[in-house]
Amino acid sequence: MMKRPASDRGYEKVAHLYDLFDQKENIAFFSQYASCVEEILDIGAGTGRIAIPIAEQGVAVTCVEPSPAMRRVFQQKLTQFPHIRDRITLIADDAHSFDAERTFPVAFLSGTFDHLLDDDERRTSLINIGRHLIPHGVIVFDIFLGLMKDTPLSPAGIVQNGEREFRRFTASRSLPGEMQETQLVFETYHHGRLTERVEDRGLVGVTDRARVHSLLRETGFVVKAEFGDYQRTEFHDGDSLLIMEAEWLGGASGRHPLGGGSWSVSND
Ligand SMILES: C[S@@+](CC[C@H](N)C(=O)[O-])C[C@H]1O[C@@H](n2cnc3c(N)ncnc32)[C@H](O)[C@@H]1O
Repeated sequence: MMKRPASDRGYEKVAHLYDLFDQKENIAFFSQYASCVEEILDIGAGTGRIAIPIAEQGVAVTCVEPSPAMRRVFQQKLTQFPHIRDRITLIADDAHSFDAERTFPVAFLSGTFDHLLDDDERRTSLINIGRHLIPHGVIVFDIFLGLMKDTPLSPAGIVQNGEREFRRFTASRSLPGEMQETQLVFETYHHGRLTERVEDRGLVGVTDRARVHSLLRETGFVVKAEFGDYQRTEFHDGDSLLIMEAEWLGGASGRHPLGGGSWSVSND
């Protein structure tokens, strides 16, 4: 099967509805990493859902985003935040090939690692991200484990916005090569009448914790912490969310990215 390019992993038709439904409470989680540095790298930044609040804290955010539709929504949102415009750089590329021509103390991927479809893509992406980190720089990313379940098209949320109601439906099926396709259907109703129906097919790769550990080791990272939720609760076997925090050891020693003697963000 032909692998779909990173620019088309399921957002082209539905990007304008993304923020309505992605209400993951992880902005505070990723912002903690930004609070200790002056600049940060957001890979798979999407609509800027996390990058914009971080830039509002005064931190410069370099964003990498391969989907043209997501970048359009991001750019459109930025017109409402002229005061942070010079703190955001948006690069049209993907995790394994982007070149920001500089290094950062922290890189994060929110909801992006799952879109890396096989170990080759995960490995080249981690190597490329490492290349963009200062020595002892930190990478943080979340992964949804156990994505292999097949499910029929079912309701997956309703959002009321003024006179309009948005309904989302999802279905998943496993594809050969440890990939999972998610069918996404969005319906918009105005005064109860269906006015728009859009459908897209998302693509994610299925992996597990042991393989991610091994890929991180192979690409010069050492795991520093693993969480099972965005409140920084320690990961336990059986958790469906795994958040990895790892330090890049691939280079020579250098300035500590998060300041002080301990590089980890505190649990307080
Ligand atoms: C679930 S969305 C998350 C967006 C944003 N990080 C957030 O949390 O709101 C995943 C994003 O990853 C992007 N993406 C998919 N494949 C990618 C790749 N290989 N490299 C970088 N980004 C990728 C998608 O275009 C999409 O914008």
